[in-house]
Amino acid sequence: MRDSVLALGAHDVDRQAFPHPAVVASALGRRSPARARAGCGGRGSVQLHARRRSRSGRRDRVVRKLESSSPEETERVAARLAERLVPGDVVTVSGELGTGKTTFVRGACRALGVTEPVTSPTFTIGHRYRGEVDVSHLDLYRFERVSPEEWGDLEPYFREAIVFVEWPEAARGALPPVRARVRLRHLSPSERAVDVEADAAIGDALRG
Ligand SMILES: Nc1ncnc2c1ncn2[C@@H]1O[C@H](COP(=O)(O)OP(=O)(O)O)[C@@H](O)[C@H]1O
Ligand SMILES: [Mg+2]
Repeated sequence: MRDSVLALGAHDVDRQAFPHPAVVASALGRRSPARARAGCGGRGSVQLHARRRSRSGRRDRVVRKLESSSPEETERVAARLAERLVPGDVVTVSGELGTGKTTFVRGACRALGVTEPVTSPTFTIGHRYRGEVDVSHLDLYRFERVSPEEWGDLEPYFREAIVFVEWPEAARGALPPVRARVRLRHLSPSERAVDVEADAAIGDALRG
């Protein structure tokens, strides 16, 4: 795969872990580990809103089917996608545990100038990192469902930031418009299928 060359500047980094809003905590059903392992979030239920339409009004979406044979390669794919992102963009990252969702987000964060460690949010719903632009990283693994109203409480993560959402199934259509949808699958212990549905600009960045 083609490597993208992206400058990683020195930045003051400031990770903000917004406390999980009480209203969200009380209203959300906790996903039991068993149900979570079983993937009971409802696959593919996040509604996509194409931001670009062709003259005919058709949604201008493409699908790129890539393969990665190492974590580093997955990070490079993410870096190429990140080249096209701007604040306000939302990217969902789906796949079973261990497929490389956080690895993917890490690669995108590095390309966007985030220098601090990028790990799965565990005790909060997300992290907000400061790079060349602000980058939010949400992980909805532990949640059954987030209603549209509850998403209002998460607004700080979305304000003027590029947002990556792991386990987006819990959002069920409550997400803002999604720029790219990434799906990872195990092919072997070190190989992953990386399917990306996105607009043509991102599709071009992932070509070849
Ligand atoms: N091609 C690959 N792409 C991504 N991760 C890989 C790959 N091959 C092996 N791995 C390993 O799989 C694990 C993925 O972990 P992580 O990114 O936290 O997954 P998830 O967030 O989906 O649970 C890491 O230990 C990583 O080193
Ligand atoms: Mg993860």
